[in-house]
This record gives sequence, structure tokens and C-alpha cells, in this order.
Amino acid sequence: MKPPFPSLTAEEAAALIQNDQVIGFSGFTPAGSPKVIPTAIAEKAVAEHAAGRPFKVGVITGASTGPSLDGALAKADAIKFRTPYQSDKDLRASINAGKTHFFDMHLSLLPQYVRYGFLGDIDWAVVEAADVSVDGKILLTTSVGAAPTFLSKAKKVIVELNRRHPKELLGFHDIYEPESPPHRRPIPICNADDRIGTQRVWVDPKKIVGVVECDRPDEVKDFSPVTDVTTQIGWNVAEFLAAEIRNGHIPKSFLPIQSGVGNVANAVLGAMGEHPEIPRFQMYTEVIQDSVIELVKQDKCGFVSGVSLTITDNVLQSMYDNLDYFRGRLILRPQEIANNPEIVRRIGIVSINTALEADIFGNINSTHVLGQKMMNGIGGSGDFTRNAYISIFTCPSTAKGGMISAIVPMCSHMDHSEHSVQVLVTEHGVADFRGKDPRERAETVIQNCVDPSYRDMLWKYFQHTENGHTPQSFRTAFAFHEAFLETGDMHDAKL
Ligand code: COA
Repeated sequence: MKPPFPSLTAEEAAALIQNDQVIGFSGFTPAGSPKVIPTAIAEKAVAEHAAGRPFKVGVITGASTGPSLDGALAKADAIKFRTPYQSDKDLRASINAGKTHFFDMHLSLLPQYVRYGFLGDIDWAVVEAADVSVDGKILLTTSVGAAPTFLSKAKKVIVELNRRHPKELLGFHDIYEPESPPHRRPIPICNADDRIGTQRVWVDPKKIVGVVECDRPDEVKDFSPVTDVTTQIGWNVAEFLAAEIRNGHIPKSFLPIQSGVGNVANAVLGAMGEHPEIPRFQMYTEVIQDSVIELVKQDKCGFVSGVSLTITDNVLQSMYDNLDYFRGRLILRPQEIANNPEIVRRIGIVSINTALEADIFGNINSTHVLGQKMMNGIGGSGDFTRNAYISIFTCPSTAKGGMISAIVPMCSHMDHSEHSVQVLVTEHGVADFRGKDPRERAETVIQNCVDPSYRDMLWKYFQHTENGHTPQSFRTAFAFHEAFLETGDMHDAKL
């Protein structure tokens, strides 16, 4: 059946977007992000620039997106500002070259920032849908993200109707927007599998300017294969959690798991699925990666609540072939509900996120390579870490072939402080910070988590620095980083 709104080509849709306007795109990771319209906007930008006219737009999304959105717009130099998260190599290069204004936000905060007007007017919502009805009910695709908020706040809406996604997705979304203070009520989620909202997003049909049809897969990248290091990290996390069940810190029925993004997170979940003492569990998480779908298929994960199905195309197709199995086992929510601090604290989530860098006192850098270059952003890691029942960070103990120690005297950028981080896990072992003062934390980290080739160096730093409650030396706190910048090897640090 033809969509009930004017049918547009992607180029006709792009022609409607004007220089300096702000667009809220659906999508959370490449899942559910529009593809043909942003690519056409990028082509328009190139043509405008060639004609000597300025053309840049403000780009707000749920999180990161794929190459046909962030990648295409960054290559076309068409982004005026970008928030709240990204992971595209071209956009990252543009941000780190100081050409694109990027502000990195806790993902749970983005929708309310938009609702409160902190980011100014939203001119357009461009939203990928599996279906749209004449009265403005939109069935989203593989993510919810911040799309409901963009749809309610934007002046005008364009729908990218992606035929790749079946209408049988109806029932996999739970759409709920909290009121703004002072009228906000408790969000009534007490269990990971509670449903509180609607199956589709309603938008005033008068705002829908047109519909662009396409048939395009999500642009989710394959994961790197698990390695001995990532497998060992996963096993160490699983062993730690099994011990927490044995010693009574975690109930035998277990607690909902949140797992972060990337290769390490994917390997951790694989290990949890295999550990004999980890019972069947639920997930209340943000990004649902391939490994989670496997755990749901095995029934090791009984229910998963998330924001996006960030899964590779063949895994998504296998899910679509078997949608009835997943019905009632999987739900997609807006990011401000999935990552909501109130719910995370209430239902007792065990959060597992990946660090780029940790320091010996338990502070974490999730975002900045060598304190300067933006990697992706904080994402939801802060939303979960600060409020978790137990907050865990994982990372390989070294990077760049061992030339970088992921554990340093002082983090070169701080995302999660010692006050929020309870456990650090590398392939070498586990540092449990609970109930420890800074000196005790440093001893545990150096003993259990650091790569052996850096251990003596960190002992030396710690033992030769006597001052205060948290012993630090301003002279050598960044000696590891300086050495890497000078010689390409942190082993050359002068302590
Ligand atoms: N210094 C410099 N570079 C480092 C580093 C360090 N201390 N630690 C890792 N790296 C580099 C790696 O070498 C790799 O580089 P490459 O891409 O050139 O090979 C890159 O960082 C990514 O490392 P990888 O081990 O593949 O990580 P990952 O895929 O597991 O992702 C994060 C790790 C931290 C980038 C990712 O989890 C992230 O973006 N986290 C922030 C958001 C978040 O936690 N979200 C959770 C949502 S709920």
C-alpha cells in the first residue's frame, strides 16, 4: 500500500533542508538511523559548497550512526555541531581537527535537553520507520533512541520508510516520555521486562512533510574476533560475578546486566553465557549486540531490554526469520528510559563497561586517547556506572602492541571518578575497590590488573610518592603519556 503522505525522493527531501537548520535524526548506533536522506543532504552540501554557498546543519541523534549519516555528512563538511555520541572515523577526524563542534553527553540526558530547549529549536525530525499510518502513528525500526522526543519537538518531519524492516516489529517497542519537572512522576519500571508505554510513536500528521521509501540494511560493522585477551577478560568478569553470588552479595536469582559497547563487551557477554555458575539472567542495557541475541537464542538470557538492535545484518535477518521466538523476550525503549538513573538504581543493575584507560586509584577515561583525541564519547557508561548495584570496568591491560599501558599513574582525561567505579578487570585479574582507600586501591590494581612489563614502574611511581591521602607526583603523573608521545613506548617513562 502506498504511504499516506507525499512520496519524495531523497533528493527532494534534502532540497527542503536549509543551511543552518537543526535536524534530529532517529537511530541509536547505526541501528535505525536514516540512510538515504542524510546521504542526499551530504550531496546537497557538496553542491552548495561548490557553488560558493555555505551549507552546514546541526546534527542531533540518539547516539552514533553509520557511514551514510555521520560519515557522509562529515566528508561533505556539512556538520555545524554534533551531539551526543559518534563513532565514525571521518567524523572523529573532523572533530579532532577542530572542524566539527562536538559535545559529548550522557545519553540519558539528551532527550530532556531537547525537551527543555537547551539545544535550541529542532527544525526537522528525520526518522526511519517500518510503517507510518495516516493518523501519524510511526512504527520505528531497530532502535528507539531519542526519536519520540525529536518527533514531538521538531517543527517538521520526514519519514524514511525502510522496507527492509517488517511490520511484524509491532510490539517490540515500548514508547514512554517522562513529564518535565515539576510534574514528573516516578517511572513505573520495577523489573527489566515491565512495559509502560505504547507500541508506536504518535506524531501530529500535519507535521509530516513527506515519506522517502528505501530498502537499506543497517550499517552495523562486524566485531573483531575474540582474542585470548578478550576471552580472559570475559572469563575474569564471569568468575568475579559467580563469586559474588557465592558470597551472597548478588542474589542467587541474579541481577539485570548492562553491558557496554565494542569488542571487549561482546567477548564478556560470550563468557558469561558459558560460565556454569552464572544463572539464566535478564539484561537491562542500552546497546544489544550480536552476543546478546545468541544468549537469547540459547535462553541463557531470558529477557533483554535495550535501546537498539546493533546487530550485524545476517544476525538481524536470522532474528526476523524467527520473530515470534523473540516476541516477549526483547524490547526496545527510549534512551532516557533505558539509561535512566532512577531505574538503574531501583532494579539493581550490574554495569559492565569498557575503559580506554584507568589509573591506579580507580578513575576511568572512556573517551580521550592520550587525553587529547576524542574516541567515541561517554555514551551511556556514566548513566549506568554512577547508579549501578555493582559498576565494573574492563579493558585489556595494554594497547598498541604493548607500547601503551592502559593503567597509568593518573588518567589523562576523567569520565568516571573513583567514587563511581567499584571494580576493574583486565586479562590479568580483578581489582575490587569496594571499602578500600586510595592507597589500598592502588596496591590492588598494580598487583592484579597491570601488565607485568609495567608493574615495577607503577610500584616505583606509587612507592616514591608519599604525599597525602591520594599519593601523586605532579612531576611524573603523566610520564607514561609523555614517553609515548616522545618515543612511541610508555616503557620509556622517566619516573
Ligand atoms: N590509549 C590509546 N589507545 C587505546 C587505549 C589507550 N589506553 N586503549 C585502547 N586504545 C585503542 C585500541 O588500540 C583501539 O585502537 P584501534 O581502533 O586503532 O585498533 C581502540 O582504542 C579501541 O580499542 P578496542 O579494544 O577495540 O575497544 P572496544 O571496541 O572494546 O571499545 C571503547 C572500547 C572504550 C572505545 C568503547 O567501549 C567506547 O566507546 N566506550 C565509551 C562508551 C560506552 O562505554 N558506552 C557504553 C554504553 S552503555
